[in-house]
Amino acid sequence: MADSKKTILITGGAGFIGSHLVKHFVNKYPNYTIYNLDVLSYAGNLENLQSIQNAPNYKFVKADIVNYEGLKTWFETIRPEAVIHLAAESHVDRSIADPTAFIKTNVLGTLNLLLCAKSIWSDAADWNRFYHISTDEVYGSLGEDGYFTEQTSYDPRSPYSASKASSDHLVRSFFHTYHFPILISNCSNNYGPNQFPEKLIPLIINNILNQKPLPVYGKGENVRDWLWVEDHVSAIDLIFHKGILGQTYNIGGASEMKNIDLVLLLCELMDEKLNRLKGSSAKLIHFVSDRPGHDHRYAIDFSYLTQQLGWKPSCSLRDGLQKTIDWYLSNSEWLQKVSSGDYLKYYEQHYLQRV
Ligand code: NAD
Ligand code: DAU
Repeated sequence: MADSKKTILITGGAGFIGSHLVKHFVNKYPNYTIYNLDVLSYAGNLENLQSIQNAPNYKFVKADIVNYEGLKTWFETIRPEAVIHLAAESHVDRSIADPTAFIKTNVLGTLNLLLCAKSIWSDAADWNRFYHISTDEVYGSLGEDGYFTEQTSYDPRSPYSASKASSDHLVRSFFHTYHFPILISNCSNNYGPNQFPEKLIPLIINNILNQKPLPVYGKGENVRDWLWVEDHVSAIDLIFHKGILGQTYNIGGASEMKNIDLVLLLCELMDEKLNRLKGSSAKLIHFVSDRPGHDHRYAIDFSYLTQQLGWKPSCSLRDGLQKTIDWYLSNSEWLQKVSSGDYLKYYEQHYLQRV
């Protein structure tokens, strides 16, 4: 399949995970024409794609998935054979402040894409597929034990996860109702270069660099499972090419950590890199009021993906964090640009409420 000429739409390709995925597909599959459709919200940044912006098999389209008419015209003109859908509002704290934007983009936007693809794939060819990228947060919150499997019932608890759960259900409903060719994967917390500094790891790196307080919600006891973004990309590549249509795959990092331990580890690594006194960054840690409805723990059982397609994560959390810190230290201009303007306003308002 990878040898044949295909036109593939990737949505949200200017964001964090999307930009890594677009670069991977453009470089690895010269026979594919990759269209990156993105509205360029605060989280979308074409600078993430500089290395491939002039590649002959890459094209950027600025469009909003909430605008059905615009999307339909584009689909009818370009007629992509496959879609990998990442465009979304992705930050839990923002969803608590403004759920409407999440319903519009994550639910209505996904429905619009499904309808557009369905209308041009009426005789679905072998190759047509709509791959929806989702999150482990749809499964809810775990106690100290246990893992999310593909059979775990959905129990979303934030407006963000409710919107992603809703979009997963819609995508699956198209498979059952219309025999529409879908794939879904649910992944744990990603980290790596180009992540917007509202998410925990880049926010902490940015604040250590600038010697600002390090906000830890509650007591820092919540647990996340961290995955190096390139490992997510390799799983997406595999599922896209070899996954069984209609199937859901869990993707995880096998790297669970309490938030406070992760922040302490970042402090230790950054003190070394910046030649600061051991223990100096940890003094910046600041416990702030908790996220409402804060999910306690996420942990993913990805054994189905390993058994079926042979995937497992390749990068340890410590190595991944070293690479991530190195990237942010060598790209301070990127960090400065994205942390100015609107983001500064968001940061000040959001964290003023928490202190
Ligand atoms: P991100 O916020 O960095 O990027 C999202 C991208 O979508 C941005 O480029 C933005 O401009 C674009 N976008 C937003 N609204 C749009 C609209 N209406 N029309 C077109 N484009 C729009 O997100 P991310 O962290 O890269 O996440 C990508 C996807 O992966 C999301 O669907 C998210 O739910 C899922 N996911 C993320 C993680 C994670 O840890 N970051 C984990 C599991 C799943
Ligand atoms: O699990 C996958 C999900 O991971 C993705 O679907 C989401 O798009 C992505 O944003 C991420 O959600 P989280 O809410 O887990 O990520 P975040 O980086 O916002 O927070 C990670 C943990 O750190 C969480 O327990 C909240 C805590 N936290 C976060 C911030 C921003 C803090 O303690 N302080 C902070 O300032």
